[in-house]
Amino acid sequence: MNVRVLTGIKPSGTPHLGNYVGAIRPTVRASRESGIDSYLFLADYHALISTHDPARVQRSTLEIAATWIACGLDPERVTFYRQSDIPEIPELTWLLACVCGKGLLNRAHAYKAAVDKNTAEGRDPDDGVTMGLFMYPVLMAADILMFNAHRVPVGRDQIQHIEMARDLASSFNHLYGPHFTLPEAVIDEQVATLPGLDGRKMSKSYDNVIPLFAPREQLRRLIMGIVTDSRAPGEPKATDGSAVFQLYQAFATAEETAAFARDFAAGIAWSEAKERLFERIDREIAPMRATYDELMAHPARVEAMLRAGAAKARAEATPFMARLRAAVGLRPLDTLATMVTAMGTATSWGTATASTAPAKAAPPVFKQYREADGRFYFKLTDAKGHVLLQSTGFDSPKDAGQAVARLKAEGWAACADLHGAVTAAAEADKIEAALARLREA
Ligand code: TRP
Repeated sequence: MNVRVLTGIKPSGTPHLGNYVGAIRPTVRASRESGIDSYLFLADYHALISTHDPARVQRSTLEIAATWIACGLDPERVTFYRQSDIPEIPELTWLLACVCGKGLLNRAHAYKAAVDKNTAEGRDPDDGVTMGLFMYPVLMAADILMFNAHRVPVGRDQIQHIEMARDLASSFNHLYGPHFTLPEAVIDEQVATLPGLDGRKMSKSYDNVIPLFAPREQLRRLIMGIVTDSRAPGEPKATDGSAVFQLYQAFATAEETAAFARDFAAGIAWSEAKERLFERIDREIAPMRATYDELMAHPARVEAMLRAGAAKARAEATPFMARLRAAVGLRPLDTLATMVTAMGTATSWGTATASTAPAKAAPPVFKQYREADGRFYFKLTDAKGHVLLQSTGFDSPKDAGQAVARLKAEGWAACADLHGAVTAAAEADKIEAALARLREA
């Protein structure tokens, strides 16, 4: 079972070199590693929170999708989709909202900042705050939990959101059974921050950015305008603190960078240094720019890729959502009798299980059953009826049976490759003890 890595990209603004070096390039590289299932999506529902301009939402979505594909994201290999193509996500948002304390959201950084600002300026605390902003963390939790992501690479500002996703997953699991994997934030400590035209961090808010796909001539002009010190040609130049040097380093190999440093010491003219920087960046960007321009001229191609990605994503989301609906009690009424027989005590989890639990001395048991979504499940419960392991849906009873047989024979830790299909609902030592008991029996 591969590790599932999921990231959302908010479609807003035009991507710049800082976004490319700090986020796009490393993410595209990581998505090619083996042993990883990568989920990448355009968070367009999230975009509605900050803009009410429909043309801008559409335009940004196209630009960002075309950018990622042009930068080498392989939609065949990665599940690349648009959030709003997955109706299960807002559906899950509601289920999660119903287990989410309002107090939890009151403490969200973005909401609190808005309230603090309003209060400081003597306005109503919730002035200008939409429910979209307030619910932002719940929607984000649904993004993550929908695909049972193990890891979520994010910036520091997003850590709280991942913690909230874990909180909501735990609350839901506690009430309805172990359906969700608890996600972990992954923070890249050494993420490169690139200097902008004025030497400060490249950022839209400083108005010092170099657009990633600026046409060649504009790229050249922008690079020629990077602020430098006033050392004349022939005078040795410091690499430390030089925006020209740092930008070069972000694109060049170690050898190229070392050669550039020697030229700095030897007194290269700034105009010459910038010319070399321009050529080096353009060498990497030019082929991507061509793909980008091509995609922007043919939005239907991007649309088709996103739809294919959505189909891939929904192949997972639709059956999972069916299971979640069944878990919370949104079930076809005519299945009531059969479900109760088929699932035994599995129709109710948590506290209710205790009342129907087998007698204390009973050994742990694997229960196999079929759910309303037509798939085959099992769970391992202990003597008191507490769930220790919960499987996801298998296509056939044979597949489910084989997984059970392996768990019995090899134990939980030894079946690490099953951990995506089977979720632990108790401490590992409890699970191992129960499996050991079954083995002995
Ligand atoms: N909130 C994230 C940001 O602003 C974007 C995002 C939305 C996201 N849903 C997500 C990131 C799920 C990771 C996982 O950058």
